Amino acid sequence: MEKLNSLPFLSVIVLLLHVSNSQPTTSRDSVYHTFLQCLQTHTNQPDHVSDIIYAQTNASYTSVLRAFARNARFTSPSVQKPLLIVTPQSEHHVQASVVCAKSIGVQLKIRSGGHDFEGVSYVSQGPFIILDMFNFQSVTVDVRNEIAVIEAGASLGQVYYRIWEKSKVHGFPAGACPTVGVGGHLSGGGYGNMMRKHGLSVDHILDAKIVDVKGRILDKATMGEDLFWAIRGGGGASFGVILSYTVKLVAVPEVVTVFQVDKTLEQNATDLVVQWQQVAPHTDDRLYLRLVLQPVGKAQKTIRASVEALFLGEANEVVTLLGKEFPLLELKKELCHEMRWIDSVVWWANYNDGSSVNALLDRNHYWVHSNKRKSDYVQTPISRNGLTWIWKKMIELGKVELVFNPYGGKMNEVPSDATPFPHRAGNLYKIQYTVSWQEAGGGAEERFLSEIRMLHSYMTPFVSKNPRSAYFNYRDLDIGINRHGKDNFEDGEVYGIKYFKKNFERLVKVKSKVDPENFFWNEQSIPSYPIKA
Ligand SMILES: Cc1cc2nc3c(=O)[nH]c(=O)nc-3n(C[C@H](O)[C@H](O)[C@H](O)COP(=O)(O)OP(=O)(O)OC[C@H]3O[C@@H](n4cnc5c(N)ncnc54)[C@H](O)[C@@H]3O)c2cc1C
Ligand SMILES: *[C@@H]1O[C@H](CO)[C@@H](O)[C@H](O)[C@H]1NC(C)=O
Ligand SMILES: *[C@@H]1O[C@H](CO)[C@@H](O)[C@H](O)[C@H]1NC(C)=O
Repeated sequence: MEKLNSLPFLSVIVLLLHVSNSQPTTSRDSVYHTFLQCLQTHTNQPDHVSDIIYAQTNASYTSVLRAFARNARFTSPSVQKPLLIVTPQSEHHVQASVVCAKSIGVQLKIRSGGHDFEGVSYVSQGPFIILDMFNFQSVTVDVRNEIAVIEAGASLGQVYYRIWEKSKVHGFPAGACPTVGVGGHLSGGGYGNMMRKHGLSVDHILDAKIVDVKGRILDKATMGEDLFWAIRGGGGASFGVILSYTVKLVAVPEVVTVFQVDKTLEQNATDLVVQWQQVAPHTDDRLYLRLVLQPVGKAQKTIRASVEALFLGEANEVVTLLGKEFPLLELKKELCHEMRWIDSVVWWANYNDGSSVNALLDRNHYWVHSNKRKSDYVQTPISRNGLTWIWKKMIELGKVELVFNPYGGKMNEVPSDATPFPHRAGNLYKIQYTVSWQEAGGGAEERFLSEIRMLHSYMTPFVSKNPRSAYFNYRDLDIGINRHGKDNFEDGEVYGIKYFKKNFERLVKVKSKVDPENFFWNEQSIPSYPIKA
């Protein structure tokens, strides 16, 4: 019975969601026509606006909806679907869509790459419209000034490719998965394998363009310092629609080195992990040593620890460095692959299919399956005994994996209130919990969700406390949800403090100023102060 610990709490959430759902159903047809008419009166090319609206009866509706729905947990017929999908082709369309959704009083969900782990960009409990930004894919690179203007609907792969097209010695620090969208990733933090050298994506944003709740287009100069701060880590969706970000590029060497070393428990993986905790957060900041821990073997009887590395330099140097600092890794030159930075992006993407650099432009290079993620921060090393106990639990559960992402380096230098992302100095590494599956039905989803929650609960003694913090871009509705829809302030405090710690307060102030009526809300948006009667 211990296994079911977290379930009563969850059924309360589910129950409350149903209660908050009992608003009158909006007639689909009338929404289509009202919205269409509104768009026509608010755009300069009224004849063409019907091309950007997909009603539920449209033959393409399902394929448009699914095109960027990246988690199979949220594509089944039982999941609530949008009344309309709007696919703007110009900034003007975005402005008009905000004004019109607001005037008819329907919730607007904004989607760029659709990688939200809880489907927040394309699922809702009440009536809603999706504003799908996929037409906004341009990436303009200015090598001379070392900047790029990247539109919200571009993928990270497109960003990396377009930079590489123009320069072999520039890159951008962002996530490892090329299909992730700029709109969610950059507004919510954005980390990748150059973070120890260069910090997060949000640490390199110079300017932004956003459509606010009044339908105005604002940039850094016109939106003001507070809003510009908020949309660099606080999530875009609470504040408006991000059209684009202007970012500063970073220098990358002509040759970088990648390698992967695996060890099972029988090969002393536990000692390896003990030493990893001493090395990975403190070593040379050009070196990123991700640690992946998986139950493997016949009946998942052991744990495999894999160290996946990027070194912004040559193989000889990293072999010498790790020979001194991390002898248990037993890194040999033969295990190292020297390559161009752009090829390391393909290597890290796990495109084990001989894909070339061009694959980075393919937004459909994605295997859609069901998954669930959670996160934690570790501030003191886990002891050998602690690790052994964790392995035992992972083997018992059988499928849930852990990924340790080392911090340190540049992450320690950026003040924790410079951006809304608060997890800077003092954090050794972030844990990502992950479970993915293909089975549909047969209780698979319930089983895997309960297993990942159990592992998260077992980890309590080893991770951050008061608050037990989490990474906003690893969306996890278990840690708190707007049970009362758009108007609940107390609910917002629960997840808000876990994601943003002390920065939550400033985010609420910004939100209350720019969107006092809380039009831009979702399951985990920043709440605005209740409006005084
Ligand atoms: C396979 C995979 C790998 C990942 N790897 C990493 C990684 O290496 N590093 C990392 O930091 N994260 C990683 N993530 C998490 C990822 O950064 C977040 O899920 C991110 O929010 C995805 O952005 P998106 O535009 O694709 O998502 P969406 O689902 O489109 O959006 C996510 C959220 O942002 C909002 N949003 C989207 N576009 C806009 C916009 N234009 N204006 C305002 N709000 C907007 C949405 O409404 C939603 O709330 C990964 C996720 C997946 C699925
Ligand atoms: C479906 O929607 C698209 C975009 O609005 C439109 O061009 C097309 O004519 C619609 N098709 C049908 C069958 O209604
Ligand atoms: C594991 O560590 C023990 C004790 O240090 C050592 O004797 C043994 O050779 C190691 N095993 C492997 C496979 O490296």
